[in-house]
Amino acid sequence: MNDWTSGYVAELDYTHDFYRELAPSHLAFCATSQGQKHGLNQPSLNYCELGCGQGFSANLLAAANPHIEVHAMDFNPAHIHGARELAELAQSPNMHFYENSFEDFATAPGLPETFDVIALHGVYSWVSRENQNYILDFLAKRLKPGGLVYVSYNTMPGWAAALPLRRILTDQVSQGEGPLAPRIQDALDHVTELQTIGTGYFNSNPSLDAWLSKVKTMSPNYLAHEYLNKDWTPFHFADLAEDMSHAKLSFLASADPSDHVEDLLFTPEQIAVLQAEANPVRRQALRDVILNEQFRTDIFVKGRLRHSERGTIGAWFETPLALTRRYAGGSIKLTCRNREIPLEQTQYEPILNALKDGPQTVRALLDRGVFGTGTWADISRTLTILVGTGHLGSGPIDFRPAA
Ligand SMILES: C[S@@+](CC[C@H](N)C(=O)[O-])C[C@H]1O[C@@H](n2cnc3c(N)ncnc32)[C@H](O)[C@@H]1O
Repeated sequence: MNDWTSGYVAELDYTHDFYRELAPSHLAFCATSQGQKHGLNQPSLNYCELGCGQGFSANLLAAANPHIEVHAMDFNPAHIHGARELAELAQSPNMHFYENSFEDFATAPGLPETFDVIALHGVYSWVSRENQNYILDFLAKRLKPGGLVYVSYNTMPGWAAALPLRRILTDQVSQGEGPLAPRIQDALDHVTELQTIGTGYFNSNPSLDAWLSKVKTMSPNYLAHEYLNKDWTPFHFADLAEDMSHAKLSFLASADPSDHVEDLLFTPEQIAVLQAEANPVRRQALRDVILNEQFRTDIFVKGRLRHSERGTIGAWFETPLALTRRYAGGSIKLTCRNREIPLEQTQYEPILNALKDGPQTVRALLDRGVFGTGTWADISRTLTILVGTGHLGSGPIDFRPAA
């Protein structure tokens, strides 16, 4: 029995993945898209990732942003050992890893007093209330005024139907003995048997079939960290927002830019219901009900400071953009939540073609005339969709071509 884990799975290491939502330049894009001043285009920044797993995202961010000091922590020594090895190979002097728990991280030697960004991906729903409180305390004390927090978490009501299924899985796994990976497979076999014998629970919740098919394609390592921790809390948005408010944080925006384009997600009737709700927290809760949201990627800010309308456009002009997928020309299928986005080829083709020459600011693209006669609303909508669907990314400041 590991006594340092607080019930968190440590027998299997987490997967190596990069999540663009963690990138300061991506957070800056989302803030600009919502008319928020972000201060992330300074020549030097302090960035912190809590529960960094294998540290792959942190290492990549440090390598791509030599002007940012990246501090990342995790309590699993295997994760930090591998992460430090990668940092050494990458020769990133601005990358700092800490083998600490949320409880003792604040006292780690060498840690800056305050941060411009604190990010935690795939952590908050998966740790105990006690650990959530340590995290909140760290956010309250170590984020600069104007700083951003990125937090992702499981949500209600999207998880409501599957809650008992997760319990069946975890109970089955904990009954078994021996290495974890085969026990996970046994538990999946057990659940499949329940599904096939005709079970009232499965019959009443047909959406579980798709979920189970997806779960069966996941690696045991991912499954263990995703579903088998002692703590596993899908949050109602209002409860998460209440937690964040204790650290003086208020909701800024989704870290998925597609979420910023309301008509991609909602019907006119749904938009009318959302707009009738003046309270921003209740509005997000309504949104989650309409979408049956399972997972949110949110940005919170310590002190909202809005741009004027002109200021927002000015911030857009300075935004550097780059292709994040090869573009061969012609029409491409743009989708959002499995629905095709009705965007004309004439709107996106000139932009994608121009960016084949390398990263450029929106101002440079405007100067090249790639937006045709579109209004500013059309232009910003198109760019938001292209970033949201992963065709474009917003780069760090040193992406900018020399004047
Ligand atoms: C699901 S993983 C996410 C990892 C990484 N953020 C990512 O998305 O790739 C959660 C991470 O939190 C770490 N963790 C869990 N409880 C912790 C604690 N009390 N203190 C520090 N790290 C913890 C785990 O070791 C694990 O690497």
